[in-house]
Amino acid sequence: MKRKILASGSVFSLIILGSAVLNSCSKANETALQQSGGITCDTVNMKYQADVLPILTAECYSCHSSQTYLSSGSNLNLEDFGILKSEADNGDLLNAIKHTGNVTPMPLNLPQLSDCEINTITDWINNGSKNN
Ligand code: HEC
Repeated sequence: MKRKILASGSVFSLIILGSAVLNSCSKANETALQQSGGITCDTVNMKYQADVLPILTAECYSCHSSQTYLSSGSNLNLEDFGILKSEADNGDLLNAIKHTGNVTPMPLNLPQLSDCEINTITDWINNGSKNN
């Protein structure tokens, strides 16, 4: 009798332990998926206003808005859509955020954008960098 209770007790704690491990595992997968853009990062059919502009505002306007581009020394007003588009179309914008090519890596002296942000901007450019 006593043995049985003990046995079922340990089966029970195994289940608890097991589900705790599984749980932490799926949490880790979730984070990995988010970082790789799997769950929360949709990067298809990205639009300027809804998708790209919030990234530029948060990550670039401190040095590249019409208010800041002169004082920051960037001399590049990315708030001006025509200027942004020419940087997008000549490849400098992507090279800057991907840290490739012969341009200064951006954001300057700050951590690289997330894969999600880079993929968002890349998709927008691949679709013709429209003012949409
Ligand atoms: C802390 C200030 C700062 C931030 C934030 C910043 N930049 Fe810059 N950016 C600069 C400066 C300064 C230059 C000029 C660098 C040079 O001439 O080497 C520059 C140059 C550039 C250039 C031209 C690169 C070249 O070498 O021709 C591009 C494109 C660019 N930035 C895009 C971005 C984008 C996109 C972001 C946001 C993801 C960003 N920058 C964030 C300061 C910044």
